[in-house]
Amino acid sequence: MTATKGRPIVIGVTGGSGSGKTSVSRAILKALPNHSILLFEQDSYYKDQSHLSFEERLNTNYDHPFAFDTELLIEHLKDLMEYKAIEKPVYDYEAHTRSKEVIYQEPKEVIILEGILILEDERLRDLMDIKVYVDTEDDIRIIRRIKRDMHDRGRSLDSVIGQYLSVVKPMHQQFIEPTKKYADIIVPEGGKNQVAIDLLTTKVRSILDK
Ligand code: C5P
Repeated sequence: MTATKGRPIVIGVTGGSGSGKTSVSRAILKALPNHSILLFEQDSYYKDQSHLSFEERLNTNYDHPFAFDTELLIEHLKDLMEYKAIEKPVYDYEAHTRSKEVIYQEPKEVIILEGILILEDERLRDLMDIKVYVDTEDDIRIIRRIKRDMHDRGRSLDSVIGQYLSVVKPMHQQFIEPTKKYADIIVPEGGKNQVAIDLLTTKVRSILDK
């Protein structure tokens, strides 16, 4: 999609779990201090599973496109692109479902949509001005994931390794890695790649100044 004056710019940042998507997004945010920027996460749009038992939720495949409420994500993204506020869902990784609260979210000038499967859906791709794939080796990604899931998401080492081998890795190969072909820019090693961050922020500035 070509950016038009009068609507926010949408930057899609994707890559496998633990690739450094968040670091890249934060680096863009930091490099553009004079602009209003929203970090908008696909993870907030995991489907509500409150009607399922905890056991059933544990068995959900969270790395498959079906796990996401993409209709609601598209609706909210379109609202933000028309400068309308939204009520963003909040996801609870320990309960494996949407929490009861929502966050009132004002629109911003730049939207960074971040998530593992944002380039998988053509309708989402069509809403993006810039598409970025963060490409990080599998061993680095699993190490980061173990640390994060044990520290922030209440998981055991065995559960992280089991989930990685049975679901995360095969789904990455089937659904995430193939979306690299849709990216405008492939960033090796995430947020530490200062050249890539500079290139990206220069492009964003040039669109905003048009
Ligand atoms: O932040 P990151 O991109 O790693 O988030 C996506 C990951 O979150 C997916 O790989 C998925 O396996 C994981 N996830 C999970 N449990 C949930 C929801 C998502 O482990 N309830």
